[in-house]
Amino acid sequence: MLQPVSGFSKKTKDEKIDWLVSSYLNNDSDSKNVLKQYWNNDKKLQKLHDGFIENTISNYYLPFAIAPNFLINGALFAIPMVIEESSVVAAASNTAKYWLERGGFQTEVISSTKNGQIHINFYGDDVAIQTFFLETKPTLITSISEIEKNMKKRGGGLLDIVLINATDSLEGYYKLHCTFETNDAMGANFINTCLEEIAKTLESTSKLHADFILKNEFPEVVMSILSNYVPECLVRAQVSCPVEKMSANGMDGKTFASKFVRAVEIAKVDKRRAVTHNKGIMNGIDAVILATGNDFRSVEAGIHAYASKDGNYTSLTDAKIENGDFIFSIEIPLSIGTIGGLTALHPLVNFGLSLLQKPSAKKLMQIIAAAGLAQNFAALRSLVTTGIQKGHMKMHLANILNNLNVSQVETVKAVDYFNYHTVTHSSVANFIKQLRK
Ligand code: MEV
Repeated sequence: MLQPVSGFSKKTKDEKIDWLVSSYLNNDSDSKNVLKQYWNNDKKLQKLHDGFIENTISNYYLPFAIAPNFLINGALFAIPMVIEESSVVAAASNTAKYWLERGGFQTEVISSTKNGQIHINFYGDDVAIQTFFLETKPTLITSISEIEKNMKKRGGGLLDIVLINATDSLEGYYKLHCTFETNDAMGANFINTCLEEIAKTLESTSKLHADFILKNEFPEVVMSILSNYVPECLVRAQVSCPVEKMSANGMDGKTFASKFVRAVEIAKVDKRRAVTHNKGIMNGIDAVILATGNDFRSVEAGIHAYASKDGNYTSLTDAKIENGDFIFSIEIPLSIGTIGGLTALHPLVNFGLSLLQKPSAKKLMQIIAAAGLAQNFAALRSLVTTGIQKGHMKMHLANILNNLNVSQVETVKAVDYFNYHTVTHSSVANFIKQLRK
């Protein structure tokens, strides 16, 4: 029986691989080669990547691609995207081109405040904790003056602290809700450091507070952590043009625009459709988030929570026809950064940000919102006209052909044939087999 390993993290990369391959893979040398073929010959670069996380044994490649021709507020962007799903980048590029000819994307940042909470147990008198908080608030604020010095110089820092009595939802539950401006940094470390310091100050000052001492009832900090729900860090993107200019895939503008609007209305009322609709939006958003070294999990969590802010999970986009114009928009929370974290470390992230002209966090929010809107447009355009499979199958066919090591001539013949036949792995393999006979 397999024994647990101890000291795995202390083993060298080769030792880790040897242990894994002998324990789980019957000493298969091919497995070792698979891992090692992805090692980078540039030792410095490899060391950099090894250092991002613990227990690294290889690198996991994802394609880094470009969707050009995004006209956003009058400026042209070539957007870097990192994603494994075929057709996402092609869809973004096609949509960028479509709207390039129709006025491009209009975007704006609505708000940029981030937040975190210090979660507290307190079973005493509400008046006592409210009085204590009012008296202590200035001390809590000054307790982080050293931590926020640099952030303040850049115009950011702690904005406010409020005490919230949440005992209606959970007995004895209070929280300090802290709001922050972090400018071009995503700010997770900054916010968490501030919160932990404020929490420490809160606990130490509470020990000296007469009301608490008298009743021997003190507030107790449960935990301090930023929130990935950032509905006060909002960005909006929109495209619009006269309905008659909206033809797509052979469908006239009026029919296309009204079917499109109907598709969004369905995503607004039907949760099953809304989730898939929003997943398509995230295809674009996550790809840019990854390419720019941001945290896609926090963005995903925050955006999906925002999609259900009114109690029902619904579409993140809105579409309407107004005075003969088709208007399509998205509004999403995005807490991202263009300095700090991976942005300074990862050479490809650095390249991606340079390509975007070293944007501020606010500018990047707008680019990401445009990419999300574009992706949704591309999906709905296919869905309400030709169906999604036509485009997908083209990419699927390319992947299968690639896998089968076909020649240029065979590719041309296969593409021609599968224009009119269903693509499956076996149908393509059979077709190539027949060709080669
Ligand atoms: C596939 O990755 C995304 C779509 O399903 C999105 C949608 O249905 O709107 C095509």
